[in-house]
Amino acid sequence: MRILIVGNGGREHALLWKLRRDAPGALFFATRPNGGMAPHCGSVPIEPTDIEALSGWAASQRIDLTVVGPEAPLAAGIVDRFQAKGLPVFGPTRQAARIEASKAYAKDLMRGAGVPTAEYRTFRDRDAARSWVRERGAPIVIKASGLAAGKGAMVCPTVEEAEAALDSMLGDLTFGEAGREVVVEEFMQGEELSLFALTDGARALLLLPSQDHKRVGEGDTGPNTGGMGAYAPVGIATSAVLEEARTRIFAPTLKALSDDGAPFRGLLYAGLMLTSGGLRVVEFNCRFGDPETQAVLPLMESSLLELLGAVAEGGSLAGRSARWKQGAAVSTVVASAGYPGSYEKGKEIRFEPGLESADVTVFHAGTRVENGRLVTSGGRVLAVTGTGATFQDAGERSRAGAAGVSFEGAFHRRDIGWRERERRGGT
Ligand code: AMP
Ligand code: GLY
Repeated sequence: MRILIVGNGGREHALLWKLRRDAPGALFFATRPNGGMAPHCGSVPIEPTDIEALSGWAASQRIDLTVVGPEAPLAAGIVDRFQAKGLPVFGPTRQAARIEASKAYAKDLMRGAGVPTAEYRTFRDRDAARSWVRERGAPIVIKASGLAAGKGAMVCPTVEEAEAALDSMLGDLTFGEAGREVVVEEFMQGEELSLFALTDGARALLLLPSQDHKRVGEGDTGPNTGGMGAYAPVGIATSAVLEEARTRIFAPTLKALSDDGAPFRGLLYAGLMLTSGGLRVVEFNCRFGDPETQAVLPLMESSLLELLGAVAEGGSLAGRSARWKQGAAVSTVVASAGYPGSYEKGKEIRFEPGLESADVTVFHAGTRVENGRLVTSGGRVLAVTGTGATFQDAGERSRAGAAGVSFEGAFHRRDIGWRERERRGGT
């Protein structure tokens, strides 16, 4: 079997790691693989968004399954193109990917389907947006409607900050086309939860619930990042909460997409908030989360490949399920000094001997091999996932592993999973 992974971050390394376990005899390829992926796959020197070139390459190489990691190629229609060439591909079509690529579309879809989410209005006109912000008052949330690499949401504690955010998005076009339309929404309070569902257009097969840590600093302080760590499973995601997600969020959303002529087959990621009024959607993504995938997949005991393959081949998930290891996983991101602001690249990376084991896995993100040396090439450099029978064991292994990674300017949060630890009374 020949499998192509599109993308080269931590999420894609975790996908490669899991799929290799599921199919040890398969041949793998990835687009410009990072330093951790490269030893295990062929390198395809094509950009993920260069859909014409990639689909041509996959056809000529008789690729049996393509798994798309990032949202940009999905939003650009990579799946439509592969399907048109008869190539099995895992991911939603361009129309279905709008659930992430257009927040305005996602919000309207949720409103139409009665899916609980923050109250909102969409605007293209700055004065109209400003006047609604003044009417609603703060705190309030301003979001670029289009794809903004995870940076398009601004939680504004004051009306002045919200007005400044509107000026920058609608006036100065700081997010370019992505910010030409904005969603202004109610500020919600509660704990966040990431829930991934594999979907065949109608059914949702939930993966283990996880929680991201978006702020750069310990105690969830400082600016937002792409995610400084994650853990799974999450105590607040009780079976009742998961049932609520299934019936009140995934089922009506999948039905609405299908009714809209855009059935969603792929991985639907619901960013949820558990508010005093129940579960509500913060956002949908049309792909696996990063770094949550690095915590979720190490706990998956059954085959991911079988499920992705079934969806990619146009099959159904009816009667299928996933099996999980008992215990927990904690994944700690090691980042470059300065991140999420500007940072230097090209720093040599070293690992303490014996760092990886059956319970400790390193997933690379911003790394590459340069003249035989492993060096940094991004802000989030890698993630160290620890697994264990208990949440505490997993956390200790992850933190010890992260401390065993060194390069100039390396830093990591030592408190990934702190909410879970508090819930468990410190254990
Ligand atoms: P998003 O890009 O939509 O995931 O938003 C990024 C982060 O902003 C979320 O993970 C939340 O922490 C926060 N956020 C987004 N929308 C809201 C909201 N309506 N109320 C409170 N926080 C929000
Ligand atoms: N962890 C956030 C995301 O993948 O969008």
